[in-house]
Amino acid sequence: MEAVGKEEISVEDEAVDKTIFRDCSQIAFYRRQKQHLSKNTSYRALLDSVTTGEDSTKFQITNEANKIPLLVEVYSIERNIFRLKINEETPLKPRYEVLDVITSKLNTVRLSSCSGDTGSLILADGKGDLKYHISANPFMIDLVSEKEVVMSINSLGQLYFEHLQSSPYKQSATGGNEESASADSCQENQEDLGLWKEKFGNFVDVKANGPSSIGLDFSLHGFEHLYGIPQHAESHQLKNTRDGDAYRLYNLDVYGYQIHDKMGIYGSVPYLLAHKLGRTIGIFWLNASETLVEINMEPAAEYTLTEVGPTAAKQKVRSRTDVRWMSESGIIDVFLLTGPTPSDVFKQYSYLTGTQAMPPLFSLGYHQCRWNYEDEQDVKAVDAGFDEHDIPYDVLWLDIEHTEGKKYFTWDKTRFPNPTQMQELLRSKRRKLVVISDPHIKIDPDYSIYATAKEQGFFVRNPEGGDFEGICWPGPSSYLDFTNPKVRKWYSSLFAFSVYQGSTDILFVWNDMNEPSVFRGPELTMQKNVIHYGNWEHRELHNIYGLYQQMATAEGLIQRSKGKERPFVLSRSFFAGSQKYGAVWTGDNTAEWSYLKISIPMLLTLSICGIAFCGADVGGFIGNPEAELLVRWYQAGAYQPFFRGHATMNTKRREPWLFGEEHTRLIREAIRERYTLMPYLYSLFYHAHVASEPVMRPLWVEFPNELETFGVEDEYMLGSALLAHPVTEPKATTVDVFLPGSNEIWYDFKTFAHWEGGGTVKIPVALDTIPVFQRGGSVIPIKTTVGRSTGWMVDSPYGLRVALSTKDSAVGELYLDDGHSFQYLHQKQFLHRKFLFSSSVLINSCADERGNYPSKCVVEKILILGLRKKPLSVTTHSPDGKDQPVVFVYCDRTSTLKLEKLSLNIGADWKVHIK
Ligand code: NOJ
Repeated sequence: MEAVGKEEISVEDEAVDKTIFRDCSQIAFYRRQKQHLSKNTSYRALLDSVTTGEDSTKFQITNEANKIPLLVEVYSIERNIFRLKINEETPLKPRYEVLDVITSKLNTVRLSSCSGDTGSLILADGKGDLKYHISANPFMIDLVSEKEVVMSINSLGQLYFEHLQSSPYKQSATGGNEESASADSCQENQEDLGLWKEKFGNFVDVKANGPSSIGLDFSLHGFEHLYGIPQHAESHQLKNTRDGDAYRLYNLDVYGYQIHDKMGIYGSVPYLLAHKLGRTIGIFWLNASETLVEINMEPAAEYTLTEVGPTAAKQKVRSRTDVRWMSESGIIDVFLLTGPTPSDVFKQYSYLTGTQAMPPLFSLGYHQCRWNYEDEQDVKAVDAGFDEHDIPYDVLWLDIEHTEGKKYFTWDKTRFPNPTQMQELLRSKRRKLVVISDPHIKIDPDYSIYATAKEQGFFVRNPEGGDFEGICWPGPSSYLDFTNPKVRKWYSSLFAFSVYQGSTDILFVWNDMNEPSVFRGPELTMQKNVIHYGNWEHRELHNIYGLYQQMATAEGLIQRSKGKERPFVLSRSFFAGSQKYGAVWTGDNTAEWSYLKISIPMLLTLSICGIAFCGADVGGFIGNPEAELLVRWYQAGAYQPFFRGHATMNTKRREPWLFGEEHTRLIREAIRERYTLMPYLYSLFYHAHVASEPVMRPLWVEFPNELETFGVEDEYMLGSALLAHPVTEPKATTVDVFLPGSNEIWYDFKTFAHWEGGGTVKIPVALDTIPVFQRGGSVIPIKTTVGRSTGWMVDSPYGLRVALSTKDSAVGELYLDDGHSFQYLHQKQFLHRKFLFSSSVLINSCADERGNYPSKCVVEKILILGLRKKPLSVTTHSPDGKDQPVVFVYCDRTSTLKLEKLSLNIGADWKVHIK
């Protein structure tokens, strides 16, 4: 069977054909929910049905129209999290609930009910500062924190719940629905509302369970700034959807996606954050079916209250944002994260879904990818090219063409006859290999993976019971059902070295096309009525399919090392919790300036939704970037969490040295800056892993009390110490950089020029300028020499960049371990150091006594920025009592002090005195 070419995707190197994908008006459950609005049928809570148990408080609500009760469960979970579940009390059959996202058993806090009046119920958590005010008729809930109504639920009466019903159609022998006579009459209605059958183009979605949609509204009081719900090629701050399409969460393969669009692309995290001065909150809507989110902002207004006494005649009405979630199926299961700070919300969310997996150090280096590196000679030449041009890199990637006929876990024998030898070459350079492994499996009885999966019943099934067959790269393919734990276990076992012929321990994995992408399927994905493990329809779990593949792959890599080594898996599709399994990227972007620009808000949104390890294809996947754009993209990527150059098939080769000497130099410099910063970056990932802090942060997260930061998305913080404002315009000669914080001071990372915070500065830029600023008050650990890859830099010396605050002090940290194993976790083999500069003394001390990791590394250089006057002497002081004078250079013009040729062990306690 011939492989399927790229022409299967109906667009070629140009803007996406949007007619392949549905807009809201073409989505039946959206139309039904909208239509329902006009009916105004409200729910009523039956307060005499309230029961309070250890874990939750339960009661019934009924709809005035159909009178069928729904069961409401209210939970208070430790860390100030509320959970609200609404399901049918006695559904015709169970409704899908998302498993495997919530990390462990959640500790609940018993709710006590304080008496409301007769028409209401007040529930309070143990401490009593968070309360639920439940009004019976109409049913609505106010979430109250210390007397402030933070959020109201169903205050707009948009609670929507389609009860499962028996089909008005009789099942035909083929499993399809045949209309009975009684159903004929509602044909027209059915067509429009898509209750049991929904058409899109030539596709017909036959719904075995009929309509099962759910929806709920949340009014966020005083909030005008919302973020989250990736993935969209949109601004970081969510926009009003009043006049257009809702944000769609539906994982789709959208080649060359359009920017500033709310259509769903590769991944979905149904989680949003809202921020205002003094409070950040989160709403996590745990549902894996197609989901739409409407956002309606009501700006603050002044209005007159006539009926109230004269003193209250004129009142400022607070702004409010209404958020309406709508899902095609499942149950209402929503977590309300009450903050109050951004960092509290991050912790609350990661308590539920897990933190970013600690990446192996190499994966923070630069990755060189292309569709495709042709053969072993090509790999060798590209690898050598990096050394020849003195450009560090860590990983070479092989796309689908490395396989025998797109059969994953195999090698094309002509192009890659000696994969082990090829990996040994990379190993000798202390580099790694990543290969692709997609979820579709070529239908070929001679392909052992296909044969086993077929025999074991490991594929997604079509409604008639046979294996689902769709078209993807290999041509006709079946799709592994990763939602089945047995399939995941088996898939994981395929990565064992003895099973995956030609693989070694430097081979890591890329999961692509896992939305899943099905070339001739509706919206290029799987039809919604195919069947998964547990007899669930695909519609119930579409958005979580990709997560399960990445989960199984990561587990496989851990198992092949007998539990010792950290995996690295990049996935295109993702869901809430994907951060536990590796990295994600933003898919098939285009080599245009606008895509470079939008990569920043796209990555910021992923970052605040738990997915800290994220990046965009450097250079743009589709098309040929001009040299200037490529350079600017490398400069931006060097300061983003996942850093990989990638290009599609028919593009010109674009290894960093192909654009003339000057551009090679600029790209080299950008990549080398990345490697210099590696200790800082790795420490940030440790923080993401243990403390849920995003690596790449929007300004509002670091400066939550500064209104001016709330809408900034052309610059960001890398950790709390660096601010990056990548140049994203062609031929730029200046950029306007907003430096936040009226008490802050910012230092240009290269020139050491400094500015006070709280304003915008115009920074002149040449093509070699990457506008990056160090925040006063921070200490950044760096490497003073750069090697060919991170593996060459293990023992290379450190430097410390101390940037003094307005109070002449600074703090920072370094986290260090072996960079690849789980020993940091199981044996506490790590080093966590703290650097403090205060009263003219720099102190290196232990930040976490539990850790122990011997390191030969020394701090060789220290640079202190913002030292107002030349010191008389500088001495180092170690605990064994030895004081040693240090030679220093002070620069009056830049107020910097340079200490060089030091030899202070990174893991030892010492001090540097400046007199
Ligand atoms: C689509 C991915 O987004 C892209 O990165 C990859 O190169 C192609 N599939 C081929 O595997």
